[in-house]
Amino acid sequence: MSNCRVCAGPLTEFLDLGRQPNSDAFPRPDETDGEFFFRLAVGRCGTCTTVQLMEEVPRERMFHRDYPYHSSGSSVMREHFENTAHRLLATEATGPDPFVVEIGCNDGVMLATVGEAGVRHLGVDPSQGVADEARSKGVRVRTAFFEEATARDIAAAEGRADVVYAANTLCHIPYLDSVFRGLDALLKPDGVLVFEDPYLGDIVERTSFDQIYDEHFYFFTARSVRNTARRHGFELVDVLRLPVHGGEVRYTLARLGARVPKPAVAELLAEEESRALAAPATLERFAADVRRTRDELVTLLTGLRAQGRRVVAYGATAKSATVANYCGIGPELVSSVHDTTPAKQGRLTPGSHIPVHPPEAFADPYPDYALLFAWNHAEEIMSKEQEFRASGGKWILYTPTVHVL
Ligand code: SAM
Ligand code: TMP
Ligand code: ZN
Repeated sequence: MSNCRVCAGPLTEFLDLGRQPNSDAFPRPDETDGEFFFRLAVGRCGTCTTVQLMEEVPRERMFHRDYPYHSSGSSVMREHFENTAHRLLATEATGPDPFVVEIGCNDGVMLATVGEAGVRHLGVDPSQGVADEARSKGVRVRTAFFEEATARDIAAAEGRADVVYAANTLCHIPYLDSVFRGLDALLKPDGVLVFEDPYLGDIVERTSFDQIYDEHFYFFTARSVRNTARRHGFELVDVLRLPVHGGEVRYTLARLGARVPKPAVAELLAEEESRALAAPATLERFAADVRRTRDELVTLLTGLRAQGRRVVAYGATAKSATVANYCGIGPELVSSVHDTTPAKQGRLTPGSHIPVHPPEAFADPYPDYALLFAWNHAEEIMSKEQEFRASGGKWILYTPTVHVL
């Protein structure tokens, strides 16, 4: 039995997604022999209710010089982070000479706006390629993993921060105890941590099991975040549901007693309670929904293939590694995946070995069906690929249920 990474309580496994690769490791066609695999399974802590992976993948295997994910690849996300920056500047970075730190700044998609406003800032990200890209936009970055030692160094060198922000990154960090000790050293007495991550409530509601992969270690709820924060002397003082990436929550934590929690916190906690969000029965039901989705998707793709239809996929997302490897979808069912990321093109999808081609090749000629792996960017992708449907093509989606559009 594994133990909870937050409180050491007992974990009960509720979903096994099998043998899985690093979701962002796209091998060259001649490199598939050396792929790393681990067992992807999810459990719930019987003590603090935090939902988390049963097995931890070493961080250096995931976040390194060649980490291929570029946050600026989506226009919707660029706008989201520009708005986020303006909001942080208006609400938290308001004193004289404020200091904003971002954990997991990636290519500078959020901090570029903070820098342009002339506000002192620092990004922390271990992935050197994306960090260099942030630097080319004028963003200051430390190439490092955020943890206690990094935070202490920053506080000593640059002073304390008004706000530490993290998007789609805190859920990647199993060692939250070290992160919280770091936050305690880095934040001013009234400083806050603002972070946003995929919300377990949306994952369960939409059966979006592809949010589960090596990098996503935790699947937070307001309740589990509040429990975790309190262990480390912090309080959950605000929550905001966000539509991005298939449904997220933005959490604001302040030191215990420093701020009065906003009514939104009690409201979300009550909603989680009334839907028994992290109850074992709810999670078992979710696992059954996941197995049904797998069976329906495989039946659909196998049937199309038997009818001689050409099916490709769109968006070589990290999420899609879980779908392809769990469902056994390889090049014999889906002949290619189209993606804008240069570092993924000309390579194969992790574990499932579907060739990744640029989006331009999607129209050359259009397939009969396209499996939308990047369903969280559906609006953006469908609007730029309108010709596909006009030419008779159909989209396949698998969340909340398998359906064809
Ligand atoms: N914040 C961006 C966004 O929301 O699009 C990037 C998210 S990306 C999925 C996760 C980022 O977190 C990667 O750039 C990765 O290198 C970084 N990361 C992972 N572990 C980290 C840690 N301990 N400290 C700082 N950054 C980390
Ligand atoms: P994400 O779901 O983790 O943000 O990954 C989205 C992936 O989809 C990423 O590899 C970039 C790709 N993509 C496209 O190919 N075209 C697009 O229009 C968008 C928004 C993303
Ligand atoms: Zn626990």
